[in-house]
Amino acid sequence: MIATTLGPLKLDTCIYNASGPRTGSTDALAKISASSAGAVLAKSATVLEQNGNDLPRTWQSDKVASLNSEGLPNKGIDYYLSAEAIASANGKPYLVSLSGHNLADNLAMLTKACKVDGIHGIELNLACPNVIGHPIIAYDFDQLRDVLTAVQAHEGLKASKKLFGIKMPPYFDGPHFEKSAQIINDFDCVHFVASINTIGNALVIDSEAEMPAIRPKNGLGGLSGPAVKYTALANVKKMRELLHPRIAVVGVGGIESGEDVFNMLLCGAQAVQIGTCHWIEGPKCFDRIAVELQEIMQRKGYTSIEQFRGKLQNW
Ligand code: DHB
Repeated sequence: MIATTLGPLKLDTCIYNASGPRTGSTDALAKISASSAGAVLAKSATVLEQNGNDLPRTWQSDKVASLNSEGLPNKGIDYYLSAEAIASANGKPYLVSLSGHNLADNLAMLTKACKVDGIHGIELNLACPNVIGHPIIAYDFDQLRDVLTAVQAHEGLKASKKLFGIKMPPYFDGPHFEKSAQIINDFDCVHFVASINTIGNALVIDSEAEMPAIRPKNGLGGLSGPAVKYTALANVKKMRELLHPRIAVVGVGGIESGEDVFNMLLCGAQAVQIGTCHWIEGPKCFDRIAVELQEIMQRKGYTSIEQFRGKLQNW
């Protein structure tokens, strides 16, 4: 009832995890695969293992928002491409996320990922706000074009025929939506766009301490959770309108209920990812949210998501 496809991949449910919280180890990935999640997406990887920024580097409020500036702590790309990592997905579509320090690193990781049979898809993260000294790639449209030009020319990706997509930052202005979609549309190598990453460079203050709630970047970090869901919905809707129909949109940002997924699907999402809610509630959130989505569909008489996907009504 809530199955979907992403390129050649069949997902039993259209709901899976965002790269980020609870995705760094094979244990965590195995717990996702044991839930109703339709796919398993690993933590954003760099070429080598790294520890990330100083602690404290995350903050969460009760149910409203969370903030992180982790600085890409991860076990390095080889770990996420290993037989153990693939086995942890337990037969579900398994995707890796690449977030290198520069284009050369991303291309080197892409080369590796393309050679591994059990990797079903690759998400290139063009939206990390938390690496000190590195601006968000997809806010620089020249750089966005340069990265996609290099990926499109990548022989290994072409030969592997693997699902390839990009994780995008939120946009807030009409011309920015149009410009980024126009660039992406020029590249056949892009099969999906995952919108949105966190809203970069937000600040949470601890009033008692009269200090920022997190330490890195003088307190600035990526905002996520329900506070960003309306921005995420707008980004999914705009991207769906502006991107070529061959490019799927994966909705991500603040989803915490079946109704949130339903709204993402109305805006045209082909699938959704869940980050903050997975972090707070654990992988049972995928079971709960899948049930909630099915209850809404039953009440409305829908038997598949294609019956309402992208069909948000106009006034
Ligand atoms: C981190 C945060 C992100 O939003 C992201 O896309 C990748 C990494 C981090 O701080 O670790």
